[in-house]
Amino acid sequence: MKDLKPDPAWMDPIETAPRPFIDEVQLDRLKWTLHHAYENVAHYRAAFDAAGVRPGDLTSLGDLAKFPFTTKDDLRANYPFGMFAVPRGEIRRVHASSGTTGKPTVVGYTQGDLDHWADLVARSLRAAGVRAGDVVHNAYGYGLFTGGLGAHAGIERLGATVIPMSGGQTARQVQLIEDFRPKAIMVTPSYMLNILEEYERQGLDPRASSLEVGIFGAEPWTPAMRAEIEVAFDMHAVDIYGLSEVMGPGVAQECVETKDGLHIWEDHFLPEIIDPQTGEVLPDGTEGELVFTTLTKAGMPVIRYRTRDLTRLMPGTARSMRRMAKVTGRSDDMIILRGVNVFPSQVEERVLAVPGLAPYFQIELTREGKMDVMRVHVEGGDGAAGAVLEREIKDLIGVSCAVVVGPPGSVERSQGKARRVVDRRGA
Ligand code: DLL
Repeated sequence: MKDLKPDPAWMDPIETAPRPFIDEVQLDRLKWTLHHAYENVAHYRAAFDAAGVRPGDLTSLGDLAKFPFTTKDDLRANYPFGMFAVPRGEIRRVHASSGTTGKPTVVGYTQGDLDHWADLVARSLRAAGVRAGDVVHNAYGYGLFTGGLGAHAGIERLGATVIPMSGGQTARQVQLIEDFRPKAIMVTPSYMLNILEEYERQGLDPRASSLEVGIFGAEPWTPAMRAEIEVAFDMHAVDIYGLSEVMGPGVAQECVETKDGLHIWEDHFLPEIIDPQTGEVLPDGTEGELVFTTLTKAGMPVIRYRTRDLTRLMPGTARSMRRMAKVTGRSDDMIILRGVNVFPSQVEERVLAVPGLAPYFQIELTREGKMDVMRVHVEGGDGAAGAVLEREIKDLIGVSCAVVVGPPGSVERSQGKARRVVDRRGA
């Protein structure tokens, strides 16, 4: 693997600023955000009033805990444009979540918001070892999803060359990587495995490709998956995190020189970790639900937005800003099987650890009589590999399941965000 250690001269000064300076910037911006939200968004005015708090009550960062949370339901209740804090005409772009359940959530950006976003994706790319003049293949989906256009603007802002490929057309992805010779790729980790499979199908050597680094996110992925991709392509694999309600990709980024969790760009986003049951703020280092307050967003500020993502906060290393650990999963994706909590990421780790199995899997849940049954569909290997996986899941995760080893191609392939769980218990 090439040494991609970034040059400190490429960093924004705030990335390595002393912690007290970052706190000061956060406090100033937080005060502005609370006033801006309260004065311009009916929802926040009503929610603050109901909780008996006013923007002026915040005099330290810790005071934020007095303010009410915002949830996805709040955004849905204000569909489509009710959470905007500027006149509609000042919104330059709108993105929306897929809305598989109920109404989609809509987010709006002013020109200033789009500029900050591009700056932060450019900062994230530099942390990943990408620099001006490099070629970046962007396989995040373009459209209402924030991945494609968000990454696109950041690549251009950095001064790199963007290949706006979007998702899908896997054979074409491989052809363009071979012909245009990008140094970096931006794509979901599960779709990167499809690209890997296509390399093999075309008889090409992925380790000989031009790729030196992949910037993978939009879904949980494990250290085992990192190792799988790094070995297969002889490239670095780093993590990028974000969510549309807060901005999109580029809220946090892992540095290529340390690969020790994702630095949250704290000059724009204030993180908290809470107990998902009680809402109590937990100390750094404790795992819980990640909550974000935006610090610079004008179009649609969010106050204490509950992400449902489970992680913990850690002190800065390569940058002064705090890190978040790799996301274990979303609380919504947690499977409760006969009293045991199971995350798809735990199953991913086990699948990748069994020799002979291909790196694809899908979990199927059914109800047989009064019993919930979990089947893990995998490929490759033989019956023996399936039995090993079954035993490892039992021993290391603590649940009995049935492993089904199907023929090559039988497990649904990801086209973007992988569908790890198919729940047929309600059927
Ligand atoms: O997935 C934004 C994004 C695009 C991030 C491209 C990174 C790269 P949403 O569609 O709103 O936005 O989904 C956000 O995806 O709450 C997490 O549950 C999950 N997620 C995003 N990045 C990561 C990551 C985009 N690096 C939701 N690790 C979030 C784990 C992630 N989960």
